[in-house]
Amino acid sequence: MFNSYQRYVEEDLNIENSEKLQPQTNKHIFVQAFNPMLGKMEWKSQPEDYDYQQEVARAAFADMLHDSERNQLYYQGLKSAIEKKRKEGEKVHVLDIGTGTGLLAMMGAKLGADEVTAIEEFAPMYRCAKKIIEANGFGDKIKLIGKRSTRVKVSSENSKIEDEEFDMKERANILVTEVFDTELIGEAAIATFNHAHKFLLTKDCIVVPSEGVMYAQVVNSDVASKWNSLHTICTGNGELGTFSKLEPPSLSSDAESYSLALHDLQLSQLKPELFKPITDPIEVFHFDFNCRDGKPIPLREQTIRQGAVLKSGQCDAIFMWWDISMDLNQVSNRFRRKI
Ligand SMILES: C[S@@+](CC[C@H](N)C(=O)[O-])C[C@H]1O[C@@H](n2cnc3c(N)ncnc32)[C@H](O)[C@@H]1O
Repeated sequence: MFNSYQRYVEEDLNIENSEKLQPQTNKHIFVQAFNPMLGKMEWKSQPEDYDYQQEVARAAFADMLHDSERNQLYYQGLKSAIEKKRKEGEKVHVLDIGTGTGLLAMMGAKLGADEVTAIEEFAPMYRCAKKIIEANGFGDKIKLIGKRSTRVKVSSENSKIEDEEFDMKERANILVTEVFDTELIGEAAIATFNHAHKFLLTKDCIVVPSEGVMYAQVVNSDVASKWNSLHTICTGNGELGTFSKLEPPSLSSDAESYSLALHDLQLSQLKPELFKPITDPIEVFHFDFNCRDGKPIPLREQTIRQGAVLKSGQCDAIFMWWDISMDLNQVSNRFRRKI
């Protein structure tokens, strides 16, 4: 039997809170960072001249651009969505939330959408997207908005517009977005989807990806058992007496030497001989990003799942990963990321 799993929500990513904390007299900026001790994102205050280039370099935008499998699946999913809307006789308005380099928005423009709106909250990335979109000749086609999507308003529905330049005129009928992390929803994705459905999208919109499924599998693995415990480290190559061993301190039998922190890795690169499944993969959560039932995605949910034991053995780790469905017509067309 599995323990319960709880969805991560956006309290700690709430940009409004960070701004409330900002001192009035001393100019500082807030930078989001992963705290490995707590296993979650938090905001850190930095001086105003903080070098954002490092943040952008570490944020793996280049990796995403080179992930051709991911990009092709997004392209196919978006193409199907645009064709469907065209067949239904609708004008196509694509919204890309979290545009990053502008990639998905430019796909929408290339696929002939009538209108494309791209939103990016991270200012250095917003500036980057602006340059990239213009350099690719889509400057007139894509409207780029530099704020968090949950602050964007549709002007036709608001009599009092605070900042007219930065709002959408109409709701979009296609949402394409990649606001996922290794835990799928850890970047406050649920709040982003719920807000978009309520304020930025038409009732009959198509969302790419349309759904996400999170899996868990209990495994026996000597390698995995070392990811969260102290073990001997060998340094040097033994020549000229450089070989040495760093032994962990000996602990009393009742002392805990384990950390329950998440360990991220590309699961598909872990050789099958390095683990033995104790259970089959078990579906833990299912998310309908289209909200077809008309209800918001729950912000908090717990689930208890039971799975048959395949063989006995020590349970060293629970592997978790997720799939997302890119194409409404081909639910099997899934993009997979690991935890
Ligand atoms: C994983 S990257 C994806 C970049 C790009 N869309 C791609 O597929 O290559 C996610 C981006 O979304 C931005 N982001 C996440 N949530 C957002 C939101 N609610 N509103 C605006 N930007 C958001 C982040 O700052 C980041 O640049």
